[in-house]
Amino acid sequence: MKVIRQIPEMQNFSNVCRQEGQKIGFVPTMGFLHEGHLSLIRLIRKQCDVLVVSIFVNPTQFGPTEDLEKYPRDFERDEAFCRDEGVDVLFHPIEQQMYPSPYLSYVMVENLDKIMCGVSRPDHFRGVATIVSKLFNIVKPHAAIFGEKDFQQAVIIKQMTKDLNFEVEILTGPIVRESDGLALSSRNKYLNEQERLNAAILFKSLRGAQHDFKNGVNNPQEIIEKVRQSILDIPGTKIDYISLVNPETLQPVRRVHENDRLALAVYIGKTRLIDNVALGK
Ligand code: PAJ
Repeated sequence: MKVIRQIPEMQNFSNVCRQEGQKIGFVPTMGFLHEGHLSLIRLIRKQCDVLVVSIFVNPTQFGPTEDLEKYPRDFERDEAFCRDEGVDVLFHPIEQQMYPSPYLSYVMVENLDKIMCGVSRPDHFRGVATIVSKLFNIVKPHAAIFGEKDFQQAVIIKQMTKDLNFEVEILTGPIVRESDGLALSSRNKYLNEQERLNAAILFKSLRGAQHDFKNGVNNPQEIIEKVRQSILDIPGTKIDYISLVNPETLQPVRRVHENDRLALAVYIGKTRLIDNVALGK
């Protein structure tokens, strides 16, 4: 496995692969890899000749009061994981090369970036769309994969890829969960023992909603209200949002149909966690 830190070296490497007719698959990450990331690596590994994983904690997607400084990092551990998974290139760019001074250009995916997570994280998706565009131009993948864990992010990247004519096939992978249903996340590390137990309510309440939908409840307000109540019954929780949306437009639905997404962001203590499920699945 090659570890590349310089942008021109990554671009040259990809140019050569493309000239040789090799298909480049790409998994962008912020590192501190877990089974969720590894599942994406395994899914795309099967579909490409050359597999590139990037690790870059992207400062432009963190708000001024968010956890950029304390975001967990462990490059050596990540490197070992990637080696074990048969990754060909680990791209770990230098921050000053990604955002040299002055840095003035950003990508915005309008409307989709202002709802759901975009309400409490106003510049977050601008940062995500910008870094993913840059990575697409540097890694030059034929296909890239994103997790459904960050459902809104995946929808925004698909829209951006279409709008800006990136020749990249966007794939998605299902959410990988702990045995009690908690979606794997680098941020789960922030939870203390009690909070970790309490965090199981997120998936439990989403499962309850799936069950209710199967039993004929199709009023979104009714579904959302029940989820809200079951979460608020757990001490130390604070709801950022609960939305029931169309899976393509992310617009709230008036009546729930098969495949609509129930998505939420909830604070467990000080840690903000997100999760979502498709209804009718
Ligand atoms: P990060 O949070 O490191 O996640 C990298 C990828 O792993 C994303 O596509 C995310 O949806 C996926 N992922 C995380 N947890 C998962 C889980 N439990 N199951 C399945 N997939 C999971 O998302 C980002 O980084 C950044 O925003 C990035 C796209 C790299 C841009 O900086």
